[in-house]
Amino acid sequence: MKNFAVIGVGGYIAPRHLEAIVKTGNRVVAALDPNDSVGLLDRYAPDAKFFTASEDFEAYLQDMKGTENEVHYVSICSPNHLHASHIKMAFRHGADAICEKPIVLTVEEIEELKGLEKQTGCKVSTILQLRVHDAIRNLKTQIKNSDKKKHEIELTYITSRGDWYHRSWKGETRKSGGLTTNIGVHFFDMITWIFGNPTKNVVHVKTDTIASGYLELERANVKWFLTVDRSFLPEGAAGKTTFRSLKIDGNEFEFSDGFTELHNTVYASVLNGMGYGLEDVTPAIKIVEDIRELEPAGVNEETSHPTALNCIL
Ligand SMILES: NC(=O)c1ccc[n+]([C@@H]2O[C@H](COP(=O)([O-])OP(=O)(O)OC[C@H]3O[C@@H](n4cnc5c(N)ncnc54)[C@H](O)[C@@H]3O)[C@@H](O)[C@H]2O)c1
Repeated sequence: MKNFAVIGVGGYIAPRHLEAIVKTGNRVVAALDPNDSVGLLDRYAPDAKFFTASEDFEAYLQDMKGTENEVHYVSICSPNHLHASHIKMAFRHGADAICEKPIVLTVEEIEELKGLEKQTGCKVSTILQLRVHDAIRNLKTQIKNSDKKKHEIELTYITSRGDWYHRSWKGETRKSGGLTTNIGVHFFDMITWIFGNPTKNVVHVKTDTIASGYLELERANVKWFLTVDRSFLPEGAAGKTTFRSLKIDGNEFEFSDGFTELHNTVYASVLNGMGYGLEDVTPAIKIVEDIRELEPAGVNEETSHPTALNCIL
């Protein structure tokens, strides 16, 4: 049984981590969050120590070394811009980290952490649950075995977020990396995992609620469209808040379901030494970092996603 500490335990995603830790037969011994609305701990970790100050949390990690409560893994569920320093915090105390997506915001931070992994012998794995989604794993195998050299792809990702999103840290580019980093990283990671590294990256539209562009990957040309505006949900998506679709050479591959229950599977893989780490996620982090810097070029008939063309023209 491994001991875990959870950072950002009071937030939206933390319960999935608490559940995954318990479901995989492990236990939470400590948790940190400046916000103390953490009554949920009683359900998953009634004996855990809780801290609101990182100094006290770190002192606890240090004091527990060599005892039965020594922390082996730190799960990181804090806002994106804090991931790098929280991963370093875990490494300082000899613990591995399991960090929410995006692992960090820049390739430079990835390189620094790679150096620290070498120095400390600790490792960080990330949560990119699409990589353990059955349908997507099957698709990866199918593409790997296909003779076709280059596929034509239309990727649509609509996931509704209300006004709160733009007023929270998620709406601040400095903290979240912006829409394409915070939400898009899931699909940029998925498509580079399946279709190879990027060779061209163009942004057509970039607003607070919509982003769209064109990517060339080793084995695919991708017209992509991402929005948090629910008015884009297709009529057939009645009652749903999310629509995810990948059109490959004209054939629809929908993966709107089975996305949110995968943290247990990711934890089981990490604990079996099969987690995805810094090297694996570099192509997606490079793409979203570049998109953050790129000026939108405007839409065009040839390479723009049809939804972007329709709403802009
Ligand atoms: N894998 C997924 O599908 C998925 C879904 C949602 C969010 N996420 C990721 O999970 C992370 C958390 O997102 P969320 O939606 O839970 O956000 P959230 O705002 O609901 O929760 C973040 C928590 O971190 C806490 N926090 C802030 N500063 C802190 C600090 N210095 N030290 C410790 N805790 C601190 C906040 O008080 C809050 O409780 C983000 O990286 C996000 O990108 C992943």
